[in-house]
This record gives sequence, C-alpha cells and structure tokens, in this order.
Amino acid sequence: MIWKRKHLLGLEELTAEEIVHILNTAETFKEVSTRSIKKVPALQGRTVVNMFYESSTRTNLSFQLAARRLSADTLGFSKSGSSVSKGETLVDTAKNIEAMGVDIMVLRHECAGTPKMLAENVGCSIVNAGDGQHEHPTQALLDLYTIREVKGTIEGLTVGIVGDIAHSRVARSNIWGLTKLGAKVMVVGPATLIPKDIKRMGVEVCFDMDRAVEECDVLNMLRIQLERQQGYNPFPSMREYIHLFGLTNDRLKKAKDDLIIMHPGPVNRGIELSPEIADGPRSVILRQVENGLAVRMAVLFLVAGVE
Ligand code: CP
Repeated sequence: MIWKRKHLLGLEELTAEEIVHILNTAETFKEVSTRSIKKVPALQGRTVVNMFYESSTRTNLSFQLAARRLSADTLGFSKSGSSVSKGETLVDTAKNIEAMGVDIMVLRHECAGTPKMLAENVGCSIVNAGDGQHEHPTQALLDLYTIREVKGTIEGLTVGIVGDIAHSRVARSNIWGLTKLGAKVMVVGPATLIPKDIKRMGVEVCFDMDRAVEECDVLNMLRIQLERQQGYNPFPSMREYIHLFGLTNDRLKKAKDDLIIMHPGPVNRGIELSPEIADGPRSVILRQVENGLAVRMAVLFLVAGVE
C-alpha cells in the first residue's frame, strides 16, 4: 500500500491495512538493530524533536534512538526546562520550533487531544507519544507487533487487558488495534476502573481475574496509575486489588501453556504482577521494549515520506 498519512495521532483513525503496513515496515527495520553499525540513512537531513510534557523513560528514549538509527538530527526537551514555565502556549512553542526547520514533532502531553491540535496548527508531521487518557498509538503498535511475532497471528486470539482501563491510553489504543486486526478483547478489572460504555468499543467486560487467566492467550497487565486517581479510591486497599486482580504464580496454574504476559511499563512489581512472573518465561516485557524501537523507526519513516 502507499502510505498517505502525515501524522500519527491514534489507532482509532487507522484502517487494519494501515496498521499491518506499519507492522510490516517495522519488521524490515528490526534487522537494523542487529547490525554492528546500527544505522540507515533513511531520514538523513531530517530533524525530529521530542516534546515531552510528561514523564517518560521508554517512549522518549525509544523515539530518540529510532530517529538516530534513521540518521535524523534530533532535539528534545521536557516541560521543566522549556519556556512553558514562562507562560508560552503549546501552539506558540510548536510554531517557534517549526521555524527552526523541524520535520517531525513527537509529542507527549497530559492533555488529550493536544497532538491533533498541533497537527491543525503547524506544517510538520506530528506523532502522538501519549496524550492524557486518550491514546498511546506507538505503545499499542509495539504490543501488536510483539503479539504477532510471538503468536504468528493476532486474528482469533483472546487478549485480556487488565487493571486501570478507565485512565489508560494504552488500553484505548490497544482496543482499537486489536479489534481491527480480529482479536477478541476482554477488559478485566474492578468495576470502578472500567468505563460503563466500554462495550461500545467491541470488548467483553470481565470482573473475574481467574476466568480471564484461564481463557486468554495474552494478558496485558496495565500499571495502576495512582497519579491519575487523585481524590477518589477506586478500591479499598492495594492488598485487596492484588488479591482480586494481581497476577500471581498461583493464578497462573490454570493458564494455557502458551499464555504470554505483557506490560507497557513502568511495572509496579508485586502489584499488577509478581516479580517472578515479570522476569519469568511467559513474560515478553523486554521484547516489547526491543520491538518499540523498530515500530517507532517505521512510524517516523512513514510519516516523513508524506509532504
Ligand atoms: N510505556 C510507556 O509509555 O512508558 P514511558 O512512560 O516510560 O514512556
């Protein structure tokens, strides 16, 4: 297919064919990281700026490295070191950066919709690196890539997304991507952390973690986002959450032999899952991080090709 999108704002707007095209492009870039000289000239002469208004380890470094492996020039800043603290608006900041000749802006922001707003106000490509509780498209793409790589397919699998669905942009992007590629998605967690209208996205709701462990081919364990739960307690205590929804070795006894365990990171060890499971043979957590690099190389390469 011919790629026609200048921006990557979310998976909601992508077709199944476009998602598969990104995954296939990522497959060709994965090999680059196995070479002794891990670089290709695909984006030579282009400039990518990472604008991170929210904390990040994986996404920020992965986008920086992806741009460098494509031979792009890279810039980056975080909220605390920028002129936002002096009152400059996001759009003014972006227009000033664009005036320096930047080609791609990678934006992480605590407010949903900010990547779309920038796409409407600047001429360069915008890549969403996570916007509030809305979408985290490259996380979902690397999750899809990892599932396809390990299982050989996505269609027909049952994928459980467990935990804080309500506050999770990772969950939303995964649901769009997985359902478009033919997986059955089960969202699992306490009723207080599952939006009432989530079934409209084509998912099954499950409040029973033991049933989810038995039925799923993939479990994606989301981080409990305490920073987004200010002012209310969605469960009585962390101990109760772990008892009902934490992934333990005991719970895994009834799992399918080939169940794989995913986590977008950062992991709260001992809460979403036990340390032995995070480091165990079913875990593909570090493989997700490895694949994130290839996926982000693919995304930067594709959006850079559209003027
Ligand atoms: N998964 C993820 O987005 O991690 P970071 O917040 O470290 O980028």
